[in-house]
Order: sequence, then C-alpha cells, then structure tokens
Amino acid sequence: MTKVITVKDKEFEQFISQQIIEKAIDKIADDMNKDLEGKNPLFICVLNGSFMFASELMKRIQTPAEISFVKLSSYDGLASSGNVKEVFGLKEDITGRTVVIIEDIIDTGNTMKAMIEQLNKRNPKEILVTTLLLKPDALVNDVPLDYVALRIPCDFIIGYGLDYDGHGRNYPDIYKVKN
Ligand code: IMP
Ligand code: MG
Repeated sequence: MTKVITVKDKEFEQFISQQIIEKAIDKIADDMNKDLEGKNPLFICVLNGSFMFASELMKRIQTPAEISFVKLSSYDGLASSGNVKEVFGLKEDITGRTVVIIEDIIDTGNTMKAMIEQLNKRNPKEILVTTLLLKPDALVNDVPLDYVALRIPCDFIIGYGLDYDGHGRNYPDIYKVKN
C-alpha cells in the first residue's frame, strides 16, 4: 500500500523512494566526475531546498572542488514590477571559474534564470546547472540543464529537502500531494 503522510493541512503520498533518488544522483555524479576533472569547480548550493541533494551529490564528487552556500532573497521591487530575487552569501571570487549551481527543483525556471543572470555579472568562465528534479511541462525559460537527476510531472512534492510551507524537508523519500 502507498504510504500516506499528513503535513499541515494536506495529505501526501509516497512518490519516489530514497533508493531511486540516490541511484539518479549516482548517475549524474559519474557524469560530473568525467566532465569536471581538472576544472576545480565551485559548486553553489542554493539553500534551503538543496541541502540534502547537495550533501549526497558532494559525497560522490571525486575531483578537486569547492562548495559554497547561497540564499535567494525575494522581495517585491519598488521600481520594477514583479518579484525580484537576489543572490546573497557568495563570498568567493568566481572570475574565470567553472561554477556549478546545485538546485533542488526547476519548475518554471524563473529562479534559475535570475540566478544565472546575477552570477554572470561576476564573470565566471562557465556556469553549469544541476538539479535534483525538473518539471519539464512547467518550464517556460530557456535555462541550461546540464545534470538533471529526475524528471517529474507538475504535481506539488515534498521531502528530500523540499518543503510545504517550511515543513517536510526531512523526509528521505519524495511525496506528492494527494488530489
Ligand atoms: P521556479 O522559479 O518556478 O523554477 O521555481 C523554483 C522554486 O519553487 C524551487 O526552488 C522551489 O523552492 C519551489 N518549488 C517548485 N516546485 C515545488 C514543489 O513541487 N515542491 C516544493 N517546492 C517547489
Ligand atoms: Mg529552491
């Protein structure tokens, strides 16, 4: 029987097991180990959602690398319309470096697009993107998708770092909302 959990006011059912998630991480880590050799990449983990994925991924990276952690602040711009997101917490100089952004999920791609635009101003050599999850049918931006662990439908999910209103990040499996 499918495992069902209640988080706040919603029910979620088990969707992707930890075993499947970690097999998918094995696969992209293998690809990265081949591609990134000799590049001394700087991995940038986007908090909070990516902490669990970043942890599992980095244990599998066997080429010299560094990791840094950033947050995205969201605020409604006074002058501009819409939601503006700013990257903060990045102390490293990324000039001329290979940067790998570690995301939990790419949905519309708005967040990733904004993130790349801001990092590009700091003149890196190249920006690569890895995401644990991608919702291909929700994507409306042209963003690089170098290492995608899992592709999923547009359901709302939690677990493995992803949250519903701050809850559910701790589950080692991924759950999707029950309709
Ligand atoms: P995007 O800007 O539309 O690509 O959305 C990216 C952000 O939305 C992610 O970093 C998550 O914080 C959040 N998000 C999108 N889909 C989900 C989901 O199914 N569960 C939890 N958070 C999600
Ligand atoms: Mg996120």
